[in-house]
Amino acid sequence: MKTPLSRRDWFKSTLAITAGATFASSFTSKLMAAPMSDAERAFFDMGLSTNHKVRLNSNENPYGPSEKAKKAVLDVLSKGNRYAFDELEELKKLIAAKEGVDASYILLGAGSGELLCQTGIAYGLEGGRVLSAYPTFPLLMNYATQMKANWDKVDLNDKLEHNYEALVSAIKSDTRLVFSCNPNNPTGTVVRESIVKSFCEEASKKTLVYADEAYLEFLEPAQQQSMVGLVQNNPNVIVSKTFSKIYGLAGLRIGYVIGHPDTLKKIGQFGDTISPSQTAIAAAKASMGDEDFMKLTRDKNAIARKVLTDYLDQKKIFYGKSMTNVVLFPAPKDGKKILSQLDEKGFLIRIWDYQGKEWCRVSIGTQDEMKNFVKAFDEVIA
Ligand SMILES: Cc1ncc(COP(=O)(O)O)c(C=O)c1O
Repeated sequence: MKTPLSRRDWFKSTLAITAGATFASSFTSKLMAAPMSDAERAFFDMGLSTNHKVRLNSNENPYGPSEKAKKAVLDVLSKGNRYAFDELEELKKLIAAKEGVDASYILLGAGSGELLCQTGIAYGLEGGRVLSAYPTFPLLMNYATQMKANWDKVDLNDKLEHNYEALVSAIKSDTRLVFSCNPNNPTGTVVRESIVKSFCEEASKKTLVYADEAYLEFLEPAQQQSMVGLVQNNPNVIVSKTFSKIYGLAGLRIGYVIGHPDTLKKIGQFGDTISPSQTAIAAAKASMGDEDFMKLTRDKNAIARKVLTDYLDQKKIFYGKSMTNVVLFPAPKDGKKILSQLDEKGFLIRIWDYQGKEWCRVSIGTQDEMKNFVKAFDEVIA
């Protein structure tokens, strides 16, 4: 019988494959999409249980891809032998029309993560500082600090929201870029549009503002206040969006940045201009603006999220007021034990370290998954 692959082995073998075994694991763990906590390091060393896992650890959409997207992927397969030059230009134009900008303001990537990495490299190479709230999605800052930049962090406020006033005050003469994530990951919290807009206007007088809007479409349409309107007249504001979240295309990898062409040129020099695949482009085209599918995801997610927040209310456990598909709350007991006992029960979540404490970051699955999760979690913390 095959011995189950331990997480550490998997991690090492993935490294060996992707990096020709030349990167040290410390380097790669710094570049992971979310920071690894001490509890997670210890948990990875213990090996995988063989239970089927409910993935509440990656903020994925359990309902995607839509039927339209699946059909589009199947239909495009026969074009798999062709580079997607024309299809990329076509998608760029469609996105540009939706966002109200010229196509030269759009840079596509294999997920917005690829563009966060490129931005981190482009600005990190200049040295100086990058600035963000903390905790937040750290990918850009991880790449910047692997180049030559330092990362200045401003704690969230006590409701686990970005403190935009403190962020503006923290800009220094050598701050090359400030990263804003609204709605934020890992908290799902949202700050009012008027505050974020004033922040972007103020901060962009001094440095580049990167506004990450990966989860914006989880808000009701009337509340989806993007910063894209600022981009046209301000080369110091860029906005990124993704097809991974509301459209459920995380595994197909496609996202984009909206920004002034000069800024996009600086970022894009560190990427391949044709990285999104034919299948990803086709799925994105079929998904974009699919109001029915977005509403389905939004509504089902809100119902499933309430299962978790009702449980936390009942237990009097504090949490950030999430409007997306992720909730952060203080770990009621040792994070490593939570991870391993949940693993045994078939659930994966994340543990984050923040302010000397451990926090559970739970992604929202289906309603049934969340019902089963709260039952399992309650047994784990009993
Ligand atoms: C805030 C935020 N931005 C960007 C991303 C990257 O997503 P993708 O590369 O799938 O577009 C994520 C992924 O979880 C995220 O949480």
